Amino acid sequence: MDFGMKNRLSRIFRPKTGKTVMLAVDHGYFQGPTSGLKDLKKTVTPLLPHTDCLYITRGMLRTCIDPNTDTPVCLRVSGGPSILGDLSHEDITTSIEEALRLNAAGIGMSIFVGAKNEDRTISNLGRLINDAERYGMPVLAITAVGKEMGRDTRYLGLACRIAAEIGAHMVKTYYCEDFHKVVEACPVPIVIAGGKKLPEMEALQMTENAIKEGASGVDMGRNIFQSDNPVGMIKAVRAIVHKGATVKEAFEIYSKK
Ligand code: R5P
Repeated sequence: MDFGMKNRLSRIFRPKTGKTVMLAVDHGYFQGPTSGLKDLKKTVTPLLPHTDCLYITRGMLRTCIDPNTDTPVCLRVSGGPSILGDLSHEDITTSIEEALRLNAAGIGMSIFVGAKNEDRTISNLGRLINDAERYGMPVLAITAVGKEMGRDTRYLGLACRIAAEIGAHMVKTYYCEDFHKVVEACPVPIVIAGGKKLPEMEALQMTENAIKEGASGVDMGRNIFQSDNPVGMIKAVRAIVHKGATVKEAFEIYSKK
């Protein structure tokens, strides 16, 4: 691996633990003003110091994030359809030059395995990686889960493995039963999305389970920014990911206002 690729990956995964707490705030790219992100700047600013890497679109990065931040950024570079359409119609929306101009540490896009346009999204991933490799830019492949797709080990294992085979440097997927089987069959680091808002204790339990079963961290959104104590929640998630805290210890951290 070249210096550029290694260096960017070390800005996403903390070298001390090899893990990451990414904060996902890209939801608006297909959902519009998502609850908790209507005023993205207000929500994200207090969370940034506790974030290893911010996952965001270029539009929100330019308009809402202070360029003096030292929190690295991973850019969402795919999009197209909204929640009103077929989400699997996604294409690449942001070029590699933009990612370089914006000093991104990584870029990410979704693949829709099993959906109508799975082939198009997987080919797009291949093309994006071809461009990204030229500049030492790591690519995060996200295994999107549509209404008609499952969230079990077999489905997520299939989608993660395909992403790795195409050349993704890291994969974002969902936690599922027997998650360790998904990890074992995927040779690149996996981070979990949080999914819909859960009670804090459940979200922390899911985080602990995922880490114990081999996840390299989280790229979590709603379970942090929709919490009644977002700073407490991200600190609690960090304690599990980086320090091996128990759910009970993490919950105490979350509870401190
Ligand atoms: C979904 O496609 C988005 O990329 C989100 O970044 C991802 O789902 C993580 O956010 P959440 O934890 O809210 O699911």
